[in-house]
Amino acid sequence: GLFSKISVTFVSKDGEEIPIQVPVGMSMLEAAHQNDIELEGKAYDLSLIHYFCSVPWTYLLSSSRACEGSLACSTCHVIVTDTEYYNKLEDPSDEENDMLDLAFALTETSRLGCQIIARPELDGIRLAIPAATRNFAVDGYVPKPH
Ligand code: FES
Repeated sequence: GLFSKISVTFVSKDGEEIPIQVPVGMSMLEAAHQNDIELEGKAYDLSLIHYFCSVPWTYLLSSSRACEGSLACSTCHVIVTDTEYYNKLEDPSDEENDMLDLAFALTETSRLGCQIIARPELDGIRLAIPAATRNFAVDGYVPKPH
């Protein structure tokens, strides 16, 4: 049909715009993977995370790679560049909010890419990939306590 696919533009960490077509019903994580767009940040330095923050071991173990949409990693963090589109999304679940709290470079319009499912109303959405590969030692970032 007319809206069997929607247009989505990913904005890379370098600011490069990557327009893709996403079938309705597919998550943005899956769409990114199918188009060789890397959403996941580099593996975090687990020893530093452990040093700064007593996050649960399940998170430590999963934080170096995507959890493939099971809301256990936050590495699929994307920033919806336009509030108008952000407001069209379903509200995040408690689980998503918990995971987002652990994401680097969190913004007011941050979401987890695995939880954004392509719908016709989202045609034209732009998703920026956070420049979130910084590490604690370089940026002096101190995670908020859990
Ligand atoms: Fe792990 Fe989205 S892929 S929370």
